[in-house]
Amino acid sequence: MTILEREQQDTRYEDLLSRLSHQSVVKHFDAYADVAWDSPDFAIDPTDPRFELFADSALGATDWYQSLPQETRARLGLHAIVGNMKAGLQFESILKRGLLEYAFKLPDGSPEFRYVYHEVIEEAQHSLMFQEFVNRSGLEVPGLTWDMKLGSRRVIGMARRFPAMFFVFVLGGEDPIDHVQRTALRSGRDIHPLLERIMRIHVTEEARHLSFARQHLRQTVPGLSRAHRLAISVQAPVTLATMAGVMMRPPRFLVKAYDIPKPVLAEAYRKDGPAGQAVRDSLRKVRDLLVDLDLVNPVSLRIWRRFGIWDEPAAAPTTAP
Ligand SMILES: [Fe+2]
Ligand SMILES: [Fe+2]
Repeated sequence: MTILEREQQDTRYEDLLSRLSHQSVVKHFDAYADVAWDSPDFAIDPTDPRFELFADSALGATDWYQSLPQETRARLGLHAIVGNMKAGLQFESILKRGLLEYAFKLPDGSPEFRYVYHEVIEEAQHSLMFQEFVNRSGLEVPGLTWDMKLGSRRVIGMARRFPAMFFVFVLGGEDPIDHVQRTALRSGRDIHPLLERIMRIHVTEEARHLSFARQHLRQTVPGLSRAHRLAISVQAPVTLATMAGVMMRPPRFLVKAYDIPKPVLAEAYRKDGPAGQAVRDSLRKVRDLLVDLDLVNPVSLRIWRRFGIWDEPAAAPTTAP
């Protein structure tokens, strides 16, 4: 890249940051002022059929789930939502702490500093919304698994030592959930109005966060050393498979609480079935970005395949064996 091209790219990046920062000022939401929590329509009844799993979802389609009493179907569905929200707000806690670490060493006048702080504030509002929903559901959920909580310290440190790797982690958490929420909102299904309100607020603000994480990688990855690029290429599929797994599969507590039989799970979540495809679809954008940034090589491709999260991009990677 010539010096001129580099300067043009820097300008485009700074323009994007100032657009995103402006959007955060003119289009943002407050967890309490903008959600009518006490509206009768928003009351949470655990037996509400709108909480039942969709009949074409992995677990919702099974004979086992369909043969449960209606109240149990609804309660299980709500429990799954609440479990995701708790895991989601804990993920956002890691994300916020990582962003603050990243911002800590930014120089005066950095446009990234301002945008990162807008994002931290927005994530704090999301976590307030999610926690309020969890509280109002009256259901108990454990959140992230102990191994993920343990790994969170390392992720936060990475934001300072190796920001590109941190932003791959960020996309691994934000992209799949954004995909799921957008798909649900577009489906035209009868979604509980409180849940719909929360999802709409979330996808609106996440669009900015995703845009920032992607552009940050586009901006910084080309300048990384070979060793750093290799480290991302190998670590990315492991991180993404773990993150998508947390969000796209029923958590252990749910399996235990509802005694979901192992053979039912094995069949519903086969890697070569529709659930496996849904996971691959949810990772499509981040996978295509990594291909584009030349962060998929023959070695890492084997890891992607092994986890069952690889799909050929529109244009096949030049490094494919
Ligand atoms: Fe969020
Ligand atoms: Fe976000």
